[in-house]
Amino acid sequence: SNAGEMSGELLAWYDIHAREMPWRVSPAERATGIRPDPYKVWLSEVMLQQTTVAAVREYFLRFTSRWPTVLDLAAAEDADVMSEWAGLGYYARARNLLKCARTVAAEREGVFPDSYEGLLKLPGIGPYTAAAIASIAFDRPETVLDGNVERVMSRLHDIHEPLPDAKPVLKERAAELTPDQRPGDYAQAVMDLGATICTPRNPACGICPWRDPCAARVAGTAPELPKKTPK
Ligand code: ADE
Repeated sequence: SNAGEMSGELLAWYDIHAREMPWRVSPAERATGIRPDPYKVWLSEVMLQQTTVAAVREYFLRFTSRWPTVLDLAAAEDADVMSEWAGLGYYARARNLLKCARTVAAEREGVFPDSYEGLLKLPGIGPYTAAAIASIAFDRPETVLDGNVERVMSRLHDIHEPLPDAKPVLKERAAELTPDQRPGDYAQAVMDLGATICTPRNPACGICPWRDPCAARVAGTAPELPKKTPK
């Protein structure tokens, strides 16, 4: 099955099954060309590192009602941001968050860079977050590789090499499939697929939009992938 056909199948699935999240735009808004707010994409992606979507939702809504723009957040007191962050854990993330907001405010008049390379230069933004913001907020065809995407790619190609060694291969496989059409929706679609269908245990292969091209489904190995090097 070719890459264009596969990304098309996944996007068709996403149009029906996308999970609603407060930082996403609705399918109706998307159809009119409305893009998600880069500030909200950045904030949600930082919060989602090591925290579940369910837990992030209420923190995200509180943050964005108190600080609706990156300029508002940049002007906040450190202590206020730290207390709104309380409960999310990993407090270095909150400190980096403020540092990044203040850099975007002071050096860029509150405008986030619209490329992977530009985003990567900001404090606290690493390769994953830069790719996520570039694709989701700016529709750039960058490859987003998180735990969900690693699991989906390892199964699709029945890759038994354990993580973390398999990472470069998985990234290459993910890059090959990233489409030029709707790359932002595509990035979120792979993450939703991993979170709802291609789950760690009991994957729902029977209803997966990629069931036909999936090598692990044919081999019966999906539940045991990805392999991990024991710690
Ligand atoms: N996990 C991290 N970022 C995500 C996103 N944008 N959509 C779904 N799951 C995610």
